[in-house]
Amino acid sequence: MTPAPLADISACVFDAYGTLFDFNAAAERCRDTLGDKAAPVSATWRAKQLEYTWLRSLMGRHADFWQVTGEALDFALAAQDIEDDALHARLLDCYRTLDAYPDAKDTLARLRAAGLATAILSNGTPAMLDSAVESAGLGSALDAVLSVEDVGIYKPHPSVYRLAVHRLGVPAERICFMSSNGWDARGAAAFGFRVVWVNRFGQQPDRLPEDPIAVVASLDALPELLGC
Ligand code: LAC
Repeated sequence: MTPAPLADISACVFDAYGTLFDFNAAAERCRDTLGDKAAPVSATWRAKQLEYTWLRSLMGRHADFWQVTGEALDFALAAQDIEDDALHARLLDCYRTLDAYPDAKDTLARLRAAGLATAILSNGTPAMLDSAVESAGLGSALDAVLSVEDVGIYKPHPSVYRLAVHRLGVPAERICFMSSNGWDARGAAAFGFRVVWVNRFGQQPDRLPEDPIAVVASLDALPELLGC
């Protein structure tokens, strides 16, 4: 039986990077050049990418996620004393076609087969998301791919989450939102979604308001949680 807090869900909405797509795949594919610096470059790249989205949103200086991702990569390479334009271009190119996590495709297909709408809601630009969805072969398992570019501000601003309500035509309380990013999970819960935190990386819970309804280690646990 579906636990009551997750009953009556009509749509499942997913964060993209870190939840469906493995952002470490880009640096891993360039390990031949990066060597031992692959892990620190990837970690700093991701941390700065997110930090810049929050700061640009607070500063009122939106730039799209492709630009922010490139600028964060500039920082991450410089922090490791790497000056290599070809490597910069190759890493960014890999970011367009990141691998999906092994649990992504089957989970989306199972939810959809059970009659739930499925969607991505991401900071990524429409072009970045289209390319990642296509290369990972997830297109047939998704009803919608929604980008913050339609509202011009980043998560966790409520107008981003509202986009899913408007575009899917489903009230917030009937949307189950999945993110591996603890801060995104809490932002979505503050907006009014029912939230499952996909704690893939065994992170500490953030000391922020709005606990998720459930915490899972991978997407495999989701269909059962939703009674599919
Ligand atoms: C996204 C980032 C937060 O896909 O992972 O929106």
